[in-house]
Amino acid sequence: MKKCSHFFDFLISHAKTYGFIFPSSEIYGGLNAIYDYGPHGVELKNNIKEFWWKSMTQLHDNIIGLDSSILMHSDIWRASGHVNKFSELLIDNKDSKKRYRPEILIQEYVEDKFFNDPKKKEKTLSRLSQSLKKKDLVDIKVLIDELCICDPISKTKNWTNIRHFNMMFKIQNEKDLYLRPETAQGIFSNFQNIIKSNRMKIPFGIAQIGKSFRNEIFSRKFLFRMREFEQMEMQFFILPAEEIKWYEYWKKNRLKWHLELNLEYKKYYKLCDHDHLSHYESAGSDIVFHFPFGFQEIEGIHSRRDFDLKNHEFFSKKKLRIFELKKNYIPYVIETSLGLDRLFLAIFSSSLKKEKLENRKIRIVLKLPYYLSPIKAAIFPLVRKDGLPEIAKRIFNDIRIHHRLVYDEKESIGKLYRRQDAIGTPFCLTVDYDTIKTDTVTIRNRDSMKQKRIHIKEISKIIERETGLRKILKKLSYII
Ligand code: GAP
Repeated sequence: MKKCSHFFDFLISHAKTYGFIFPSSEIYGGLNAIYDYGPHGVELKNNIKEFWWKSMTQLHDNIIGLDSSILMHSDIWRASGHVNKFSELLIDNKDSKKRYRPEILIQEYVEDKFFNDPKKKEKTLSRLSQSLKKKDLVDIKVLIDELCICDPISKTKNWTNIRHFNMMFKIQNEKDLYLRPETAQGIFSNFQNIIKSNRMKIPFGIAQIGKSFRNEIFSRKFLFRMREFEQMEMQFFILPAEEIKWYEYWKKNRLKWHLELNLEYKKYYKLCDHDHLSHYESAGSDIVFHFPFGFQEIEGIHSRRDFDLKNHEFFSKKKLRIFELKKNYIPYVIETSLGLDRLFLAIFSSSLKKEKLENRKIRIVLKLPYYLSPIKAAIFPLVRKDGLPEIAKRIFNDIRIHHRLVYDEKESIGKLYRRQDAIGTPFCLTVDYDTIKTDTVTIRNRDSMKQKRIHIKEISKIIERETGLRKILKKLSYII
């Protein structure tokens, strides 16, 4: 546990030092569970989005895109069940005035204290699971008391009773307007528009990337549980009789997609069926990932049947149906719902390495998949004289139209290499005295640290071949 938290602190600090993630509003003391993406963070995030978007919309001829608004009619949230049922459990410590999710307090306590006693751990977690299933809030409180769990801030056991807490953010001064807690409802409310404008036939999917907001209780897990985050969701509309077929299909399809990201395989654990179903789902499964703080959900695959469209029909009094073969029916829906920030954290945490070099020095390197790297190649002059910077800048200007490159001459070559390693740049190109004579540069690979000479004319082709999305999309097109 100690080792993990040490690595996690290092990861958070690395993300800040190298311009990936900053705490929001830091100059005013920060804001819990809200983060900003820095210059390299936004590039990495955009590359992840592009990869997901193209995998969904370009590789499936029956999946199309949408970008719906964050603010929607308040009846949408009544119809979707979020006004009445989208709540979490909450407990307050009366001394520190801090709020916690009781089940997380228990889980974290058990992970820490019963680390070497798996039997006790299992017994306690199974009691928690039973109480959650029976919605027995009194027993969960009794469990907290029996385990003598203290508030980490006040160190006291002075807890309130456990109660429900709605997770939606309500906008003040506007009657019943909410920030959306999932992007999916924009898809359901546009269902008829999409069918009519695009002549879609069952089965088909609608994909969307966008911000969602949840009034999460502060969890100290960096990007894992945020109050403002992004989701990449896809709703797949099907014949009701084909529910199981498509549910199984999307579970397998999504797991394969994650495995192709080529993070360390063992870190993608497995599909775990939901013990506790959300109010909208009739079956659900999570893809869980080994984050630095343990196995946790990264993506959910849910069968929502006709829950949403049926309720929107009732509330809107509009028909949300498919008319096919002289029949009309409300289609069922299989949803795939991936958290962009969680995926960012998964990719970042499994790519960040401390490597011991032959000279016994430590190198910090971010071994991102090349197609996701924020910068594809960096160009340096060996020295800042004899015309080398001019040649390097000329190459940079020619190639930056096609690829995300940087030009740097601020430090010695060794330090420039280390900086690009820490950012995850796959290739470094150096202009030296031989460039003047032979029109060649050295190209250094981030992972092997080996260098070779290539002709200037080859640079763009090599960067495209090695770092473009084409290779991975082609591979995916055969397997998903
Ligand atoms: N539309 C279904 C839905 O929203 P969910 O399981 O509540 O289902 C789906 O969320 C995904 O969104 C999760 O697997 C996770 O990756 C991401 N997510 C949910 N809450 C989050 C939060 N507070 N911070 C970051 N990501 C979150």
